[in-house]
Amino acid sequence: VLPDPAVCRRPSLAVTYQGGDAALRDRLLPLVDTIEFTPDTLALVQGGRVVPDRERLAELAALARTHRVVAHGVGLSPASHEGCDAGYLELIDRIFAQVPVAWHSEHLGYTQVDGCFLGTMLAPTRQRAVADQLADRLAAVRRRQGLPFLIEHVAQILPDPGGELSPAVFLSHIAAASGSGILLDCYNLECDAANHGLDLARFFAELDWSRVRELHLAGGNVVAGMQLDVHCQVTRPSTRQLAEIALARAPQLDLVVFEVLQEAVPLLGHDAIVAEVADLAGWLDHAFAGDAAAVG
Ligand SMILES: [Fe+2]
Ligand SMILES: [Fe+2]
Repeated sequence: VLPDPAVCRRPSLAVTYQGGDAALRDRLLPLVDTIEFTPDTLALVQGGRVVPDRERLAELAALARTHRVVAHGVGLSPASHEGCDAGYLELIDRIFAQVPVAWHSEHLGYTQVDGCFLGTMLAPTRQRAVADQLADRLAAVRRRQGLPFLIEHVAQILPDPGGELSPAVFLSHIAAASGSGILLDCYNLECDAANHGLDLARFFAELDWSRVRELHLAGGNVVAGMQLDVHCQVTRPSTRQLAEIALARAPQLDLVVFEVLQEAVPLLGHDAIVAEVADLAGWLDHAFAGDAAAVG
């Protein structure tokens, strides 16, 4: 299904870039109009305090003069019992004071229990009370930063925690109640479908598409029968097919990001990343070929 140009416009294209790799940066910047970075990757521990890496902060601030920059965080942990990580909020306050970001996004998950880092991210149970509490916490983050805020669903590595609400209703309810947009990760959805039987047709039927602002595209590996949401490969055709459904259904979609983990950059190599971003640009052009025709 091609997007109807009267309803959906071509979103911008972005790639993840965390600074500190000028050779890759200089090849990627001509291909995209937006860069997405993860504030957590800028964190250094100095004298027992977590502070942002000054050089990379300056690089991202300079980059923001020619490109739109958005932030995608990992360490907020809003679904921890004790609430969002206060130290992490201070870190991103300092980063956003120097790097002007168009919006900030985070995951509906938790990385800490009782202050202990889990080494992964888990999804909370989908009770209505949990959704309401998360919405209150995320609305507070949005007001504190004064930035548009997007929420992303978490790929489950443990069995589905269940709850009163379906995955799409949980996500849509929290987005509406917190005044947030939705970041849909097409590869994470595929992981949940492969590992836990997530019903994608039902998910798409129940999702509040009017709130979807951003898509993540990525590829990953299968290990011991688990489709891992470790974003370390280029996108598969099946992932792009899911994204095409979103392109045709999300009228407020603003951005499509090729999301690649910093650790995967040396494994994939610069050539493969640059080729993937160029290919995604052509794929978007093709999907919205009717756009130009409608305008012209
Ligand atoms: Fe994410
Ligand atoms: Fe993602």
